[in-house]
Amino acid sequence: MAVQGVLSVDLEVPDVDVGIRFYTDAGLVAARAGEVARLRCVDQDRDSIILHGGAARKRLRHVTLRADDLDNISRNVVPMGGSLLKAPDGSKNIGLWLKDPNGMIVHLVEYPPERDLAVVAPFEVNAPGRLVRKNRAAVLPNSAYETAKPLRLGHILVFSPDVSASVAFYTEALGMGLADRSQDVIAFCCAKKDSDHHVVAFAKSPGIGFHHASFQVTDLDQVGRAGRFLVKKTGRGEWGFGRHTIGSNFFHYVQDPWGSWLEYYSDMDYIDDYSRWTPTNYGLEDSFANWGPELPRDFTHNYELDAAAH
Ligand SMILES: [Fe+2]
Repeated sequence: MAVQGVLSVDLEVPDVDVGIRFYTDAGLVAARAGEVARLRCVDQDRDSIILHGGAARKRLRHVTLRADDLDNISRNVVPMGGSLLKAPDGSKNIGLWLKDPNGMIVHLVEYPPERDLAVVAPFEVNAPGRLVRKNRAAVLPNSAYETAKPLRLGHILVFSPDVSASVAFYTEALGMGLADRSQDVIAFCCAKKDSDHHVVAFAKSPGIGFHHASFQVTDLDQVGRAGRFLVKKTGRGEWGFGRHTIGSNFFHYVQDPWGSWLEYYSDMDYIDDYSRWTPTNYGLEDSFANWGPELPRDFTHNYELDAAAH
């Protein structure tokens, strides 16, 4: 009875072409039908980002999560402060549609487990007393590298006006685990079995909204290289290269055309059995990064609320 992972994010955007350009520059593959663009990782058979064009402003439409035991979940939604919905117009009438207590629409669907990613050569790091890479260079000339291609959508971070209420709902109604949090400002939820450290995370804001979608790449070099490439190609804002304390992943964020973010990550903590994981409530000084560049001023700005006020 639980959410098992994230499948996709649906966003309303003003101009679908602008979105296709950004996400294809980021290494995703696009398919367009009218005002809807579907973006997926090259080696995956499912969409990760779905853009609905022609909107007055960017807005989170809904998130789609992989889950099982939907009947049982459906019985928990209303007692835990959510509501059950009919499938929105134009959406598939499968799975379970619901609204969380903060008004975010969630689509739960049963979906086959993700395929294991292909095994890659280990990222070898020479360290004091541990020389594992000898008689060869670690890094090749830049021209030797192809543009990084995201492997999979690993997690999403959304804004929440009440992070504790979000955690209560996603853990108690949807069967997720609280991996870690930082006070009432940010919280990270995982699946209870075979999960990245976080699948859905919540950051405090006066209202709901989409903050970022995070795509896994093979290693930290690819995080840095892909981030630099996308910044140069798009001229957009960035935060990275750095390493998070919470989840331990290396990160590089690039700002999307509407002020939210795409993250490349590698080497995230993994929770194969939630009963063996102990959540930590970190101080605010650890809520963003262990190390990295200065945070952009608007990194946690919820542009969806600005637009709503006009
Ligand atoms: Fe992230």
